[in-house]
Amino acid sequence: MSEKTRQRLDAHHGGEHFHDLMLQGFDKRFGEAFWSYWAEHIVVHHGPAPTYLDLGCGPGLMLRAWHQRWPQATLHGVELQPYMLDTARKVAQEVGATLHEADLHTMDLPLPDATLDAALCSMVVHEMREPIGMLREVRRLLKPQGRLLIMDWVRVPLPQYLAGWDDDPFALDAEPEIRAFRLDHFMEHNKLSRDDLLWLVRRCGFEVETSVDRGDGQFLWLVARPLADT
Ligand SMILES: C[S@@+](CC[C@H](N)C(=O)[O-])C[C@H]1O[C@@H](n2cnc3c(N)ncnc32)[C@H](O)[C@@H]1O
Repeated sequence: MSEKTRQRLDAHHGGEHFHDLMLQGFDKRFGEAFWSYWAEHIVVHHGPAPTYLDLGCGPGLMLRAWHQRWPQATLHGVELQPYMLDTARKVAQEVGATLHEADLHTMDLPLPDATLDAALCSMVVHEMREPIGMLREVRRLLKPQGRLLIMDWVRVPLPQYLAGWDDDPFALDAEPEIRAFRLDHFMEHNKLSRDDLLWLVRRCGFEVETSVDRGDGQFLWLVARPLADT
């Protein structure tokens, strides 16, 4: 499973330079809107020393950002891709976080039930073949008052999707590979509708507390809490 996942991710990311894109885009992805959403829906449920998990943490910058804001926090990240892991290992060591080098599809973290105050899953679900196993494991790991925050691409029409990129696949001089890359990504980023994502989270034993459309409906942010076993 993991080798297949690495190969699929490599193709989706378009190679190792995706690591640099993740570093460069971090401040934009996690700007003021993100931190006020986090404060409003996550921080209100825990004290000054939370336990946080970043699912698909890439190069690990969120671990550092959390550490700066909550120096007493216990931090975990999960990542699999070799070109992300070098930086993620360094950041994890720098901030005293635990990096789990694991495939989210089969993750079985060595942590007791009800450990986490929050889990973040940012721009990861669309990269997975299925998120059901991961969501069930997160449900096991969250405290009853813990929260899961998912941010991801959701389905929009092709013209809207293409308008969000600098390159134009209709340009007469567009390289065939660029056209294919863009249209491949349309299928990959457009996999789930907003309702599909909400439904999947609910089917895995969560109650969705709140959700918000972002970027003219191209992204969905949602916060969910684990439902007790019935
Ligand atoms: C688009 S990047 C987002 C990184 C980070 N969450 C952020 O928002 O800055 C998605 C990350 O999830 C990781 N990822 C995707 N599927 C994964 C899987 N099955 N197991 C482990 N990591 C995965 C990728 O390697 C990549 O680093």
